[in-house]
Amino acid sequence: MSDFPVITIDGPSGSGKGTISLIIANKLGWDMLDSGALYRLVAFGVEKHGISLQDETKLADYARTLDVRFEQAKGSDELAIYLEGEDVTRGIRTEKAGNAASKVAAIQPVRDALLDRQRAFSQATGLVADGRDMGTTVFPSAGLKIFLTASAEERAKRRHKQLKDKGIDVSLPALVSEIAERDARDSQRAASPLKPAADAIELDTSDMTIDEVVERVTTLHQERFK
Ligand code: C5P
Repeated sequence: MSDFPVITIDGPSGSGKGTISLIIANKLGWDMLDSGALYRLVAFGVEKHGISLQDETKLADYARTLDVRFEQAKGSDELAIYLEGEDVTRGIRTEKAGNAASKVAAIQPVRDALLDRQRAFSQATGLVADGRDMGTTVFPSAGLKIFLTASAEERAKRRHKQLKDKGIDVSLPALVSEIAERDARDSQRAASPLKPAADAIELDTSDMTIDEVVERVTTLHQERFK
């Protein structure tokens, strides 16, 4: 399907996908697809425009024509994200936005509408694709598929720290229940549920440092893409 190398990194919220994907992409000089951001953007725009979650045709049209721009912020690793010209970089990162994303993400026509956009993300060097269904649906022939997990407690702690570092205040107990709700919805939905691809390598990162996970993925990449 894709004639450029792809590493897919899937897993539940707080498993470290985003952090690991960014480091690996930078190391390899590849692009990174943060597919979760697309679902967060759709949810954000849908709420802004008052589109009903029952209106699947309108939702899919909105997702297909999503007016988004990613821009490297000066002096930072972070990509600034503009939706219809509005800077939503921080706005889409809250847990509320994550939960709203998981509701639109369960709607099959929305997923279909985002498929080509995700596959067209990079054809230049290589791609590290971060999400829930990168290995199962979007890039089924990827050369290396990783599925990251971690205990629910550890994932909540990581998300808590991540949100705090971004200046987003949220209580740990509230986060634990929000993450559990979101994971249940993502795993139990009919449309591309969160699950490892049959040929994915599963890594439980509960007791691993970021460096250890990066090293493990780098070694696997060297073995696979030799
Ligand atoms: O990864 P992130 O937390 O930004 O994803 C937000 C939500 O988007 C997830 O909870 C999930 O419902 C949805 N998502 C998805 N498929 C992807 C990436 C994200 O359904 N490939």
